[in-house]
Amino acid sequence: MKFVYAEGATPFNQDDSAQLIPKHITTQTQLNEWEQANIIIAEKWLFSRKRKDLLTIDFIKKLHLKMFDKTWLWAGKFRHHQTNIGLPSFQIQPTLKILCDDVQFWISNYTFPIDEVAIQFHHRLVHIHPFPNDNGRHSRLMADALLIQMSTSRFSWGRKNLALSSDTRHQYISTLKLADKGDYQHLLKFARS
Ligand SMILES: Nc1ncnc2c1ncn2[C@@H]1O[C@H](COP(=O)(O)OP(=O)(O)OP(=O)(O)O)[C@@H](O)[C@H]1O
Ligand SMILES: [Mg+2]
Repeated sequence: MKFVYAEGATPFNQDDSAQLIPKHITTQTQLNEWEQANIIIAEKWLFSRKRKDLLTIDFIKKLHLKMFDKTWLWAGKFRHHQTNIGLPSFQIQPTLKILCDDVQFWISNYTFPIDEVAIQFHHRLVHIHPFPNDNGRHSRLMADALLIQMSTSRFSWGRKNLALSSDTRHQYISTLKLADKGDYQHLLKFARS
């Protein structure tokens, strides 16, 4: 299997890439399509389930598992190695707990409009980078799940498949870099475009 990486994609290490479940897949296009089919099943599950708490470590893992359970043996499991972006692996669990508590506090206290809560949640989650891969798609769907739970429409994320290379993806990664510096307004505008 030869991977073709879009801008800002986390490269696979050898151990992770060996754990691909469908053995017939040999190209990046086939992998993208397979993952997309897996994600659609997860979305059906996510958006038909009754209102429950999303802001837990168990749920963060469960959504990743549902999105990639037919694709990767490590679906739903935190990474143990360093990735190019992402915290040291021993900090994943405690930092996620702080993130869940912060987001719960912002919601309970109306600290920010709900779009700002969801965009900061997405950015901090992908910055932690809890899983060996697929953190972008997982953290975008987590933000969407939070919006739906709060009776708001999900983000449109530039209305393009962000897994593929495009100007829209470039724009997304650029706005994430601004968010890294604390400026969330461009990322927010992108997410609603
Ligand atoms: N400089 C950056 N600052 C913040 N986040 C970044 C940066 N570069 C990349 N990212 C995030 O990391 C993600 C890539 O991580 P990973 O490869 O684990 O996820 P993915 O689901 O495979 O990605 P995608 O679906 O976007 O292709 C990007 O989608 C983006 O959300
Ligand atoms: Mg990736």
